[in-house]
Amino acid sequence: MAFDAAPTEDLLERGYLDVDIDPRLDLFEEIEKLKKEKNAIILAHYYQEPDIQDIADYVGDSLGLSQKAAWTDADVIVFAGVHFMAETAKILNPTRKVLLPDLKAGCSLADSCPAPVFRKFKEQYPGHIVVSYISCTAELKTLTDICCTSTNAVHIIESIPEDQPIIFAPDINLGKYLQQKTGRQMVLWHGTCQVHELFSHEQIVKLKQRHPDAHLIAHPECEPHILEMADFIGSTTALLNYTVESDAQVFIVATESGIIHQMRKHSPHKTFIPAPPDNISACNECPHMKRNTLEKLYVCMKYELPEIVLPDWIIEQGRACIDRMLEISARAGL
Ligand code: 13P
Repeated sequence: MAFDAAPTEDLLERGYLDVDIDPRLDLFEEIEKLKKEKNAIILAHYYQEPDIQDIADYVGDSLGLSQKAAWTDADVIVFAGVHFMAETAKILNPTRKVLLPDLKAGCSLADSCPAPVFRKFKEQYPGHIVVSYISCTAELKTLTDICCTSTNAVHIIESIPEDQPIIFAPDINLGKYLQQKTGRQMVLWHGTCQVHELFSHEQIVKLKQRHPDAHLIAHPECEPHILEMADFIGSTTALLNYTVESDAQVFIVATESGIIHQMRKHSPHKTFIPAPPDNISACNECPHMKRNTLEKLYVCMKYELPEIVLPDWIIEQGRACIDRMLEISARAGL
């Protein structure tokens, strides 16, 4: 089989290059070779499949990944995550080539807030500043004053003068959590993450009865009735750190289950139970994150496709809100 030319006709429709891979190849070795050859860095979110996390140069949460993307001197950034994360990397480091193994790795939160609709919504609230969770499109970032991630969201809201009204988009659950943590009332956009809104209160109560010493740890994208039961709430990195530092031996994990790979690596003797969704046919894996596979990662590095390409105006106007977030984070030591 020859691998010297990749068919690109269906790339946009399919989301990735459909290339046969020689089954004798050791993809880990091949990817390592491609990294050196192309001066490429692989950045992976904790929700990626274990093989991708293991081959990545950096595995982290949305804030850590943005910081790495902004500071790297690699020529090629291979972003193993979802589309908005790769777009953010491109905005932050536009002279680099940014690759995403599958262009269709989207995000229900980002999709819930189309920029043209949000623009009209924003017009109803003159004098408000817009804080957007980083899980939004690049176009929405052009309508945003300050971005935030789950790691820095409380610091970002607290950095805004108390008499300044705020619109928070697109995650309503994170928005409600921030209102409660900071005491600030905000105008909330009604978006949700399809994974975090599915956890079952009833099933978690049953699990806690079976494991009375287990700690329930939850991402703030979860619904309020799940967060109310949680022993600890935090970003993916904060949840991981909590499992390392806590004396508890058993954890019920209410976020996408990919993070459990890192939790097990850091604490092999502890037990991690994915929080159950409310419907047996549902699952706490993000179907978008899981569109990326080791095979697609290899092909995308080999052919340097699919590439994230953004219009100049999006890069220019989308950048300020991310820069503000990074400045506030740096001041807070994050
Ligand atoms: P963090 O990476 O900030 O923990 O958030 C996860 C996420 O936003 C995916 O929905």
